[in-house]
Amino acid sequence: MRYSMLILNLILLSVNSISSQSVSLYKTYQKYFPIGVAVMSDALKEHATDSLIKFHFKSLSPENEMKPEVIQPQMGKFDFSKGDSLVAYAQRNDMRLRGHCLVWHNQTPKWFFSDNGGVISKAKLYKRMKNHINNTMRHYAGKVYLWDVVNEAAGDEEGAVYREKNSSWYKICGKDYIVKAFQYAKKADPNALLFYNDYDTEQPLKRSHVFQLLKDAKAAGAPIDGIGLQAHWSIYEPSEKNLRETLDLFSSLGLKIQITELDISVYPIENIRRKLRDGEELQYTPELAQKQQEQYEMVFRVFRDYKHVITGVTLWGLTDKNTWLDTFPVAGRKNYPLLFDVDGNEKACFKSIVGF
Ligand code: XIL
Repeated sequence: MRYSMLILNLILLSVNSISSQSVSLYKTYQKYFPIGVAVMSDALKEHATDSLIKFHFKSLSPENEMKPEVIQPQMGKFDFSKGDSLVAYAQRNDMRLRGHCLVWHNQTPKWFFSDNGGVISKAKLYKRMKNHINNTMRHYAGKVYLWDVVNEAAGDEEGAVYREKNSSWYKICGKDYIVKAFQYAKKADPNALLFYNDYDTEQPLKRSHVFQLLKDAKAAGAPIDGIGLQAHWSIYEPSEKNLRETLDLFSSLGLKIQITELDISVYPIENIRRKLRDGEELQYTPELAQKQQEQYEMVFRVFRDYKHVITGVTLWGLTDKNTWLDTFPVAGRKNYPLLFDVDGNEKACFKSIVGF
């Protein structure tokens, strides 16, 4: 009896896994754009994760493995081991690899900006920037096809085109650091595509800042190939109108566009860390699933309409079991922003984007 139950279970399990893997995401979008996923190097070792990634994705992004704090934790001590494991995985599985990221105010070690206990001079900081870009891009030349050269340099507040307050890059160098970073990157690996990457690019105020920043940088000689829209979105925004306007605006600059960090939170968008409020943590109810499905359906419909300018769409994580949104902006608030549930099963939003 027990034996036959076991057989039955095994049959059910295999039927389940076949039906849950019936449509490959990247194959469905083959005529549109490559579909990618951000991963941590450890996740590649898990069998379940590994097969899901291979079945659905053709492009990888390192969630943390190529950030300055990982690559150069101490001055001059480069550690490419984690990034290299992603390179090996991408090569084995015939996937593209996006580089993320070279110049950012976050996840960059403090030593970058200090010198003999004080603030470093602009000239010395440029040397460090150049050295970091050279070493990193040369190490990954021919392996990483594209880099987010500068990440999140635009300001969030009214009147601030640039992130002035909490960016040591800006405080020490002014806005020219953006141009310099792209120029160094172009020299370091002339074959890599060079992108500027930012968030909230669909909100009219932030969008106008990003637009101004890109126009200024291009005019000052920055070799920028494209813009990455991070797309940390929510079931409440962006609206279809704002999304279409954004894609029109940035493509009018002659830039290629990639959706680089897509996830759709079940909470409203917020960018400042804060504590959990009583009773605000949501269960993933059928109503929320429905709203999320509609939002995923809408944004992918728009992406397909813009396939002439969109050259890649990347999800910022694989399943709801592991998402950075469980810790940001509110630590300990569970979120459900991705296409696969905590057990790796396809959610309704997955079905809504492959069933067009
Ligand atoms: C996040 C990672 O997902 C987290 O694991 C890490 O702790 C913090 O950074 N914008 C970016 C990404 O450009 O690099 C961030 O990734 C999410 C916001």
